[in-house]
Amino acid sequence: MTTRLAGVDFPNPVFTASGCAAAGWELDQFFDVTLLGGVVTKSIMKVPRSGRATPRMAETPSGMLNSIGLQGPGIDAFLDNDLAWLASRGARAVVSIAGGSVEDYAVLARRLRGSPAVSMIEVNISCPNVEDRGQVFACDPQAASAVVEAVRWNTPEATPVFAKLSPDVTDITAVARACVEAGADGLSVINTLLGMVIDTTTMRPALAGVTGGLSGPAIRPVAVRCVWQVHAALPDVPILGMGGIRTGLDALEFLLAGASAVSVGTTVFGDPTAPLRVLAELERALADRGIARLSDVVGLAHRAPEPSVPEAHDPPGDDPPGDGAPGDDPPGGLPASRGFADAYEEQT
Ligand SMILES: Cc1cc2nc3c(=O)[nH]c(=O)nc-3n(C[C@H](O)[C@H](O)[C@H](O)COP(=O)(O)O)c2cc1C
Repeated sequence: MTTRLAGVDFPNPVFTASGCAAAGWELDQFFDVTLLGGVVTKSIMKVPRSGRATPRMAETPSGMLNSIGLQGPGIDAFLDNDLAWLASRGARAVVSIAGGSVEDYAVLARRLRGSPAVSMIEVNISCPNVEDRGQVFACDPQAASAVVEAVRWNTPEATPVFAKLSPDVTDITAVARACVEAGADGLSVINTLLGMVIDTTTMRPALAGVTGGLSGPAIRPVAVRCVWQVHAALPDVPILGMGGIRTGLDALEFLLAGASAVSVGTTVFGDPTAPLRVLAELERALADRGIARLSDVVGLAHRAPEPSVPEAHDPPGDDPPGDGAPGDDPPGGLPASRGFADAYEEQT
């Protein structure tokens, strides 16, 4: 079940999500990571970084809040260890990069330029956990555009550049459009939502960093809405969709909304085999629906429904009014068969 993202073929549409499976080493203990569509690595920065103070994880009723703060080994160690390992395993590496300035991103893109192991670059412009919220490039179309342009300029044409968007904006399509105009070949939708938990025992914020990124099943409807909106606005732009995917049917929902592939993130912490299970469940769900090609399902929910055959009914006025028989038209002209919800929807 191959999928094509910006001219590059991937063997299937299920990837890991950045930050939830490092570079895949740990997952490889549970299953062969080369069976995945791609391994999206933790966002890498120019220099090693220890991240934010602990505690930096908090549970919520249907997901979690994290404020890791882009902890990582820096690009040099990443190239020598993580990327080298992914290449040796034959996995398709989608390298996520993050920076504090446009120049940081340009430098990272240049460092990756020589590596044939890079199948795709995901530009994380949307991490909510950097210390200065002013640095969330994805919250401003112009800032997002500047970063994407710098990365695209420094990346070989054959390597797709995807920009990872934040849902924490008024109009995600404005940022999506700015990224595409700046040269993004595709969009990753979505990163975490900025959230907060207060511990009622200590009566203080649960995270040392006060706010964090909300992920997991709680954000799935938001993510599906974002994928839907971006696909509706830019139907030719490939989308890597993510946000609370736990099952194959969840993944199918993203494809129907317009994603061409999906990333599985938070679920992996509780079930390391989740990406492969999601893939198997998705394949079964598509087969059950008689869908042979993945491209047939991408964005399908946007298409107009098949016209339904109208039910046969008596022409209005043929029966005596008020006898309760089928065909009675209630005052206001609504057919008797229509429910309150239909009537409400029609009037609002
Ligand atoms: C612990 C943790 C760390 C994350 N780190 C990154 C990161 O480094 N770069 C990034 O682009 N997204 C990062 N994310 C966001 C995920 O890649 C994903 O977009 C988000 O969690 C929504 O998907 P999910 O609900 O399946 O986890 C992180 C998420 C979590 C939970």
